[in-house]
Amino acid sequence: MTPLLIRGGTIVNADGSWRADLRVSGRTVVAMAPDLEQAAGERIIDAGGCLVMPGGIDPHTHLDYPFMATRTADDFFSGTAAALAGGTTSILDFIIPESGQELRDAYSQWRRRARPSVADYGFHIAVTRWDGETESELRDLVEHEGITSFKHFMTYKGGTMVGDDVLIKSFGLAAKLGVLCMVHAENGELVHHLQQKLVSEGKLGPQYHPLSRPPEIEGEAVNRAICIAEAVGARLYVVHNSSIPAIEALRRGRARGVDVTGEVLACHLALSDAVYRHPDWAFAAAHVMSPPFRAPEHQQALWSALGAGIIETTGTDHAGFKAADRLLGKAKFTDIPNGTGSIEDRLHVLWHLGVNAGRLTAEQFVRATSTAAARAFGLYPAKGRVAEGSDADLLVWDPVGERTLSAADQHQRTDFNLFEGMMVRGINRMTISRGEIVFEDGKLSAPEGRGEYLRRLPLRRAA
Ligand code: URP
Ligand code: ZN
Ligand code: ZN
Repeated sequence: MTPLLIRGGTIVNADGSWRADLRVSGRTVVAMAPDLEQAAGERIIDAGGCLVMPGGIDPHTHLDYPFMATRTADDFFSGTAAALAGGTTSILDFIIPESGQELRDAYSQWRRRARPSVADYGFHIAVTRWDGETESELRDLVEHEGITSFKHFMTYKGGTMVGDDVLIKSFGLAAKLGVLCMVHAENGELVHHLQQKLVSEGKLGPQYHPLSRPPEIEGEAVNRAICIAEAVGARLYVVHNSSIPAIEALRRGRARGVDVTGEVLACHLALSDAVYRHPDWAFAAAHVMSPPFRAPEHQQALWSALGAGIIETTGTDHAGFKAADRLLGKAKFTDIPNGTGSIEDRLHVLWHLGVNAGRLTAEQFVRATSTAAARAFGLYPAKGRVAEGSDADLLVWDPVGERTLSAADQHQRTDFNLFEGMMVRGINRMTISRGEIVFEDGKLSAPEGRGEYLRRLPLRRAA
């Protein structure tokens, strides 16, 4: 691997910025100082006028995921290629076992699926049932495979949803093992009830999707998960918070000392529920995801919560489907596959709508796109920081460069882009992953399978 000298840039970390050159040797950053001399064999990268930031970490993706009678559009190759192009160098995806499938079997299946990855990848394990084997299967994955986060769906009744009994048992085990509990927080019984009611009234189009999942239903579930985590002493991570009631529950929990981290998706920050009222069925259906997009006051509250650190991480929940797959729900909205994709665009949207709009500083941007996830999921400081000894996962970011986001030139295999036509200022010029230049001036050079599996350690064991 050619050693690199990145010259003339401003290094941005979550806790500060400084003007310095940076030397990369092998897979790590080996030196950072204002004026480094070129060593023999080093390639110089001119980062004048640019920012050098840690590669993004997307803690929430669903690549090659069979869901709602179809499969997500991106596999681990196309999804991670899109991630690298957009400045994300690591992802954490979800192993979601099929009904009755052993967890180790599901783990092996996901490792096989992930082999073509070009970015680094790790897994959360979804706990979708609790039987006599579950505890030992989970212990096995924690101890031998470095999976240190358990995911729980409080919705999708009849599918992956689990009740409070399972949450209590699983959170209790997580507390003992020092691993993180995660929840998709929506009251699944109430969602089911509202879906049935809307369908029985003949309300069948995608415009009824958000009415079946109102904000209060999310807030109730966030609050309930926090109470359970508090009672059993578990660390909690709430994925894709989308509404004021969710933020309020996070704020209350954190104020009384519960160890709870909140995530927000780039798409929930950028888009409102107006998308569901679009006259074109296909356009509205392309936005069906859960929780749904919300009224603009929720977006404002999400930005404020991110700026204030009540919400700390951002992800994408990348689970895009092709337009043809959405047709599964042509007759009724409850059959439209749930999920949207933005793995390639998260950083650009966050920079443009966050930093350019004065809602985030560059340091807060780094915290929200990389550092906070690295800390929450046990990847820090190898990932999530530009520092001597850390992995050389780096972005050379041009804060004044411009481009227009579009499905026409994206690497994602979704035939739709949530941010179609959005002109963003602030663009990723170069992505370096463990010392290798994998994206430069619009071109990817990342051989299939170069991504490394991220084996993680528990953060804290109970006494
Ligand atoms: O609608 C969504 N979010 N689909 C992906 C699965 C999930 O709930 O995260
Ligand atoms: Zn979810
Ligand atoms: Zn998800």
